[in-house]
Amino acid sequence: MGVNPQHANIKAVRGTRDLLPPETDLWFHVEHTARRVFACYGFGEVRTPIFEDTQLFARGVGEETDIVSKEMYTWEDRARAQSEKAQSLTLRPENTAGVVRAYIEHKLGETGQLQKLYYIGPQFRRERPQKGRYRQFFQIGAEVIGAPSSGSESPLRDAEVLEMLATLLNELDIKGWVLNLNSVGSSSERPRYIAALKAALEPVKANLCIDCQRRAETNPLRVLDCKVPQDQPIIATLPQIADYLDEASKAHFAAVLASLDACGVPYELNPRLVRGLDYYTRTTFEFSIETGLGTQNALLGGGRYDGLSEMLGGPKAPGIGFAIGEDRLILTLQAMQEASGAQVPQDKLDAYMAPMGEAQNPYALALAKELRTAGLRIEVGDGSFRLKKSFETADKLACKIVIIGEDEASSGELTVKDFATGQQVKLPREILIEQLKITSRNI
Ligand code: HAM
Repeated sequence: MGVNPQHANIKAVRGTRDLLPPETDLWFHVEHTARRVFACYGFGEVRTPIFEDTQLFARGVGEETDIVSKEMYTWEDRARAQSEKAQSLTLRPENTAGVVRAYIEHKLGETGQLQKLYYIGPQFRRERPQKGRYRQFFQIGAEVIGAPSSGSESPLRDAEVLEMLATLLNELDIKGWVLNLNSVGSSSERPRYIAALKAALEPVKANLCIDCQRRAETNPLRVLDCKVPQDQPIIATLPQIADYLDEASKAHFAAVLASLDACGVPYELNPRLVRGLDYYTRTTFEFSIETGLGTQNALLGGGRYDGLSEMLGGPKAPGIGFAIGEDRLILTLQAMQEASGAQVPQDKLDAYMAPMGEAQNPYALALAKELRTAGLRIEVGDGSFRLKKSFETADKLACKIVIIGEDEASSGELTVKDFATGQQVKLPREILIEQLKITSRNI
């Protein structure tokens, strides 16, 4: 008999996934560490909407980028009332455009202060799913933006962001990261470089992939991010942006490198690193890693975007930022744990309350409440369980079992067994809290 389609299992959509405990403990650890490190560098959290006006990404990220031309989740949002207009909306494929929109909308430039904002949240791109590449993925990112008078253009800001990232990766014990660095020049030098690139592409473009033949016309810079192996020997012969930088951009880049050297942050210069978004100017970077990610080895990317605010109709507001692919960071940490053979410690609860009959359930719950209020981590069984089942469940979940029988509830003396030592003792209720606190790893 065939499965009634109405009863077929509904699965998570391709390219999306559920994150479950205990894996989510690692996500929490990463996010907690990031928040702590960012706070030390003076960043505050920003939360922007998950969907925005489609125009924001078309203008901000760039019509010719892969993200905008093929990967966005866009829909026509119908008007629900006469007063409303239908609008094209898009699930955010990245967060920089949203942050800069918020900066403009809330006139943050008028504060005269440098804005240091970080975010943690889901982004959406309709890419071909594979390990480390999802259609819903998470980014931990940050942006430093402000009026030029706030020092937002200073190379010190670039170096500070890069040094913060190196510190964060080191705190997370990510080993073997490589920082690739480049300068893509300002909007005034870019046209000269693009003209040279176009001229160099003219005689060879027919030998490139179909996408690059189109890019050669519409946005030649994007040819440099092409991943098609057959195109690489041709791309290697194209002119390099470093030869087209003016004195100011060269000096800016040299100052970034000098500060990184002073802080002892290692980097590799990569003249082809132009990145897949159109808003970048001057410093661009990626941190990559060889462990556990296969082809998707870019752990994070970012750069300067000195003209983005103006592209979105805002005031002059130079900025620099980055986004870490959190899914990739977690995969890397997991691969490292596996490679080192380290046992991920099972984080057990402090105690399991085992009522021996349904009549003891209220007592068990009240005792659990008291212990939890004291900061202990407690699970409560159920009076319908047999003693054997209570012990088995407790042993899996917790360090200790607290047995609550009829006698225990009336005398206030509780039987406590420690699974690690095998010791079983009787303790008065008041002492139980103190005892559990002493042995808890949490408090
Ligand atoms: P991006 O290079 O497009 O830059 O993305 C940053 C990081 O997000 C990548 O290095 C990667 O780790 C992760 N990522 C991207 N797409 C996926 C995917 N489909 N699945 C899993 N992870 C992915 C940006 O998004 C810029 N907004 C960064 C930035 C901030 N630039 C300046 N400020």
